[in-house]
Amino acid sequence: MADTANLEIGDQKYSLDVITGTEQEQAVDISRLRKESKLITFDDGYGNTGSCESSVTFIDGDKGILRYRGYDIAELAEKSTFLESAYLLLYGNLPSNAALQEFRKRVSEYCELPPEVLKAINAMPKSAHPMAVLASGLQALGGAYPEFSTNDREKDLEAFDQVAALIISTVRTIAAAHHRNSQDKELPQPDTSKSYCGNFLSMMFSEDDGTDEIPEPVQNALDQIFLLHADHEQNCSTSTCRMIASGGANPFASLAGGVSALWGPLHGGANMAVIKMLNEIHESGDDGSNFIESAKQGKSRLMGFGHRVYRNYDPRAKILKNASDQALEALGVSSPILDIARRLEEVALEDSYFIQRKLYPNVDFYSGIILQALGFPTNMFTVLFAIGRTPGWLSHWKEIAENGKKIHRPRQIYQGETLRPYLSLEER
Ligand code: CMC
Repeated sequence: MADTANLEIGDQKYSLDVITGTEQEQAVDISRLRKESKLITFDDGYGNTGSCESSVTFIDGDKGILRYRGYDIAELAEKSTFLESAYLLLYGNLPSNAALQEFRKRVSEYCELPPEVLKAINAMPKSAHPMAVLASGLQALGGAYPEFSTNDREKDLEAFDQVAALIISTVRTIAAAHHRNSQDKELPQPDTSKSYCGNFLSMMFSEDDGTDEIPEPVQNALDQIFLLHADHEQNCSTSTCRMIASGGANPFASLAGGVSALWGPLHGGANMAVIKMLNEIHESGDDGSNFIESAKQGKSRLMGFGHRVYRNYDPRAKILKNASDQALEALGVSSPILDIARRLEEVALEDSYFIQRKLYPNVDFYSGIILQALGFPTNMFTVLFAIGRTPGWLSHWKEIAENGKKIHRPRQIYQGETLRPYLSLEER
């Protein structure tokens, strides 16, 4: 393959290096272009821009491939656990048995929140959105551990093992603490003898009478959802984290930014939007056909469909489609909205509007249905996405902290007013 690209602008010719990745993806390196030609490149929404070289996650959207550190997502979902995959993302290799036990121990030890962080969470309005609480809670956590959030890269990197375990552990405690507070209930003591998800589910749902035995298939379904969300290369929230990290900010600040970016309905907020859409369709008595028509006319959007990168079935959606059947069976619940979801998928996959635009179900199409069946309130769905995505954000923070040399600073094409004379108040 070519290792240079030639660009002709007017009578000037520029020779640009071509970078090739380990999966043979290629990019034209324009980093010297402005210096040599005074021109920048323009790519609204960054759809065609590589912002970094990374070795965390590989996606081939046309083929529907997703791999963490070289391991296929379907194999990880079948054989691994969320914490094992988190270790893989953070450190680049699957852990030995001893390393995994050590990592699990570190994560469980950090489960409890420092009292001042719990106080800060309980001081937020009970009606506050859980994503707002999570972003604030992460900043408060950094405040409670000043020695871990120095903004001195060397020191923050030295503390990375503890910080990663602390954040992975406490994102679930922050989520459970706010949920309990919003229901005027005390947060129970975490039970570190339980699995990552078992402990989280009992912090969320256990009752004073001790009824906190969460069936194993339910714990496993949640673990799988977390694993499937753990990383997704340079998406909106991860790019935000990397952007913040590129300025030298510590992991707590970088992840708080990632949480805020994830909140939007076109990103992590889509899992909530899917349930809202399915409920509305159900309540209107439509079997999905009318909704599909209105989506085709641009009057509504089929939430949980389409993806900037996947132009094929999102491999995570395939796994979750099966998982949703199993989880609902284990819980013994039937869901009318699952039937609507299946019908929408069936119709959309045969409709030329969706076929031509290569719109397939994405990870959020089925995850909301499982989360609802597990008993999570809808406004917590995006927080659950954030808990899953935490190891990915941390891995990208680490990659930047270890290798990033430059602050990220895109340019723009200015389209505003040109120089205007300043008029005094009387003259305006
Ligand atoms: N329903 C109906 N039409 C759609 C949809 C949809 N869900 N998604 C895209 N289109 C149409 C869009 O109207 C456009 O049509 P036309 O060419 O006629 O103008 C065409 O498909 C291309 O769409 P786009 O908005 O340019 O595509 P994008 O790559 O900028 O957007 C997306 C990707 C995910 C924002 C978009 O597909 C969408 O809004 N989907 C629904 C929200 C959703 O499910 N988001 C979760 C993404 S997965 C979780 C994550 O990784 O964050």
